[in-house]
Amino acid sequence: MSKILVSGVKPTGRPHIGNYFGAMKQFVELQNKYESRIFVANLHALTTVQNKEELLRSSREIVLDFLGIGLDPQKTTLYYQSDVPHVAELAWIFESITTIPYLMRAHAFKDAEAKNKEINAGVFNYPLLMAADILVHDADVVPVGQDQKQHLEITRDTAEKFNRTFGETFKLPEPLILESVATVPGTDGQKMSKSYNNIIPLFATDEEIESAVMSIVTDSSSDVPRNVYAIHSLVRDKSSLDKLYEEKKGKYKELKEALIGDLQQFIGPMRELRSEWAARPDEVDKFISEGGMRMREVVHKKMVDVRNKVGLIHHE
Ligand code: ADP
Ligand code: TRP
Repeated sequence: MSKILVSGVKPTGRPHIGNYFGAMKQFVELQNKYESRIFVANLHALTTVQNKEELLRSSREIVLDFLGIGLDPQKTTLYYQSDVPHVAELAWIFESITTIPYLMRAHAFKDAEAKNKEINAGVFNYPLLMAADILVHDADVVPVGQDQKQHLEITRDTAEKFNRTFGETFKLPEPLILESVATVPGTDGQKMSKSYNNIIPLFATDEEIESAVMSIVTDSSSDVPRNVYAIHSLVRDKSSLDKLYEEKKGKYKELKEALIGDLQQFIGPMRELRSEWAARPDEVDKFISEGGMRMREVVHKKMVDVRNKVGLIHHE
């Protein structure tokens, strides 16, 4: 039987090439190797998005994003997290065996608290809902971006704690992190991030690619525009890239034009695939709701075992 892969992505805003190269790309490569289950983490998104229309829209958009990058619904089960509500119950059980000081060490919580003292309890408990998402599947591997490393450690700790307390129940999952992918810089040279207004959208139009690349900040003290090169290295192999940058030394405008061309070639087919799927909303809705139903059945079996172990079942 093939090993199980589980991952989730929060539906918050338009993905950029940093998200793709840092995290999403793996899903496509791995779907041939694992039994893949990828969900839209709409329950997690509720901690920050509290607007019905926006949550529904961005959840649908992210499904199209997955399809656009090449996830094949025949190979990968795509579903909405909220279609498997068992995870909220399991998160509650985990909350009951986890201490507050332990959760206070989470980076995401500390960052949120540093920005805003009045954070909600969902933000605090976020890692345990994520642990439930993963453990309920007995996942073998969890592909995530580097920033999720600690959440995977919390997931493993939680599995061990449960197993020690109630008896062997959960498998310990392995994270799959693309350690070699450096942080993709944005057009201003900082980390590319939705919050910094410095992104190149993953499904950008040709015009958007052009204006984003032209706005990349260059440093005139060197012959090689560092930020342009860093982004370019994602879409062209190293030897041909180095040759190009040697030939066009100091010619920033020409190098940017070459990057525009390469990005357009890279993004174009994904953008097209995405719009083909966008034109078939009924089909998309159908497989995503079937995915949720299938996952609900799988997860239900596991939850019967969990409830039984904890002492929550009085009758069969
Ligand atoms: P953002 O900073 O734009 O809000 P998220 O925090 O939603 O991005 O990140 C989603 C995923 O994409 C994470 O797993 C993260 O590791 C990856 N990621 C985000 N930005 C970058 C980047 N600039 N370079 C590499 N990976 C990134
Ligand atoms: N926390 C992840 C993020 O912010 C999203 C997520 C929720 C997730 N549940 C998950 C990722 C389970 C992997 C597995 O990107």
